[in-house]
Amino acid sequence: MTKVLFATSEVYPLIKTGGLADVSGSLPLALKGLDHDVRIIMPAYGDLLAALAKLQTTRIMHGSGAIEIHETTLPGADIPVWLVAHAGCFDRPGNPYLGPDGQPWPDNADRFALLCRVAVEVAMNRVGLRWKPDIVHCNDWQTGLIPALLGDEPGHPATVFTIHNLAYQGLFPPETFGQIALPKRFWTCHALEFYGSLSFIKGGLVYADRISTVSPNYAVEIQGEEFGCGLEGLLRQRADRLSGILNGIDEDAWNPAHDPHIPHPFDSNDLSGKAKNKAALQRHFGLEENPGLAVLALVGRLVQQKGIDLVIDLLPKLAEMPLQLVILGSGERRYERVLEKWAALYPDRIALKFGYDEALAHLIEAGADVFLMPSRFEPCGLNQMYSQHYGTVPVVRSVGGLADTVDDASPTNMTLGKATGIVFHEAEPAALFGAIQRALNLYATPDMWLRMQKTGMERDFSWRQSARQYETLYTLARQDCLAQGPSVLALAGSA
Ligand code: ADP
Ligand code: GLC
Repeated sequence: MTKVLFATSEVYPLIKTGGLADVSGSLPLALKGLDHDVRIIMPAYGDLLAALAKLQTTRIMHGSGAIEIHETTLPGADIPVWLVAHAGCFDRPGNPYLGPDGQPWPDNADRFALLCRVAVEVAMNRVGLRWKPDIVHCNDWQTGLIPALLGDEPGHPATVFTIHNLAYQGLFPPETFGQIALPKRFWTCHALEFYGSLSFIKGGLVYADRISTVSPNYAVEIQGEEFGCGLEGLLRQRADRLSGILNGIDEDAWNPAHDPHIPHPFDSNDLSGKAKNKAALQRHFGLEENPGLAVLALVGRLVQQKGIDLVIDLLPKLAEMPLQLVILGSGERRYERVLEKWAALYPDRIALKFGYDEALAHLIEAGADVFLMPSRFEPCGLNQMYSQHYGTVPVVRSVGGLADTVDDASPTNMTLGKATGIVFHEAEPAALFGAIQRALNLYATPDMWLRMQKTGMERDFSWRQSARQYETLYTLARQDCLAQGPSVLALAGSA
């Protein structure tokens, strides 16, 4: 049994802005299923404390005020969650990272440095929780300072840092470095400095015993210039410590046979419920209830990463075709505005909902025929896996985890019965359009379509295999930690 402190900035169902929350809510469960003792540490955002049953509160002093660590459990699971609270820090409404103006909260560096410092205290068993982990598993930049700060602690646990998205690095102006009182020796390009800025993510990339990312393909991609976001050199240097472990999905929460969010359950033996969900989806959006029209869907953050601009470019063409398009998302206002314009012009073809709506995301997966993920980059992506489980054929760009999880409807794959989606290559509207046309042609051939749907529905996207891979990674991280003491790079940083 390994004791794992899982440090993260979001966990489903407590708080979610994207896939990190899904992973943080399901991987710990899968690890527990393998008999590991996993405990989560995360910020006590907004209304969380009021909404949750607290088991116990531990108080530690910090500067002029107290930090509280409230212990609760993950809803529906016997996994302890430590919520870090400090007056004025996380107790604010709305998005964990962005203020009401859509800009990062101005004190994000202080907020997440605080989370990291408390995680270090917990990891060193110095706050009276009577538990010391063997591994601290950090996720994304918000937890990046943990491996750096832990490195200074004699007898510290081993660390794993998982990159969910290298494009978000936690970069702050140089003066922040002094403001959050980091040890001076970290101010070098071998440590936390990144072209004159303070980089939180480098704390993980430089100092963690092992680095992982969320698909094997992305692990390779980020070592090159196109996807490395300027960190490719460092990642290549640490290539022997870097691996890709594909995300799993929560097969209870995302199972069309017993999904409380969808009106008509179905499975791969009987897809009649899917047709009824399609009608329910069309009704929901006020679209014509026409079983013959293909429903294309997109659920996700409306940002350039997701290739929403490619879809927007195609709207004039798509709106004239015999199909319906439904989009659920939130993100950049400029994309929302154009989408609104087109939906107003073609209300019988294009339907939108802006904002975050978990139940609707499930209904869309259950009712749509085709799911669009034309991402420019995609570390893993979860919706293409949810889609396959719901018999909704994904159209994806061949990047990151999308390439690892969708098998294209090529003639060979169709013959072998392996095809589960449509894969295209260039981040160009014409390439996406070609892929959509291929999807529609197959949709018009019901026996081929059904075969693809069933192949996708029967795919194993569970955590079983991936949780075993994390288990192995933890063993390797512990060996590295014991064997090497401070890493070569850390020593270089202290020179
Ligand atoms: P990312 O983490 O980059 O946003 P993922 O595909 O890994 O992408 O995960 C996105 C998760 O967030 C999925 O569970 C998806 O269903 C969900 N999601 C994204 N946008 C919305 C939304 N507007 N409403 C409901 N769920 C959403
Ligand atoms: C990130 C990535 C997404 C991935 C998710 C969970 O937000 O953008 O591709 O699935 O993290 O790992």
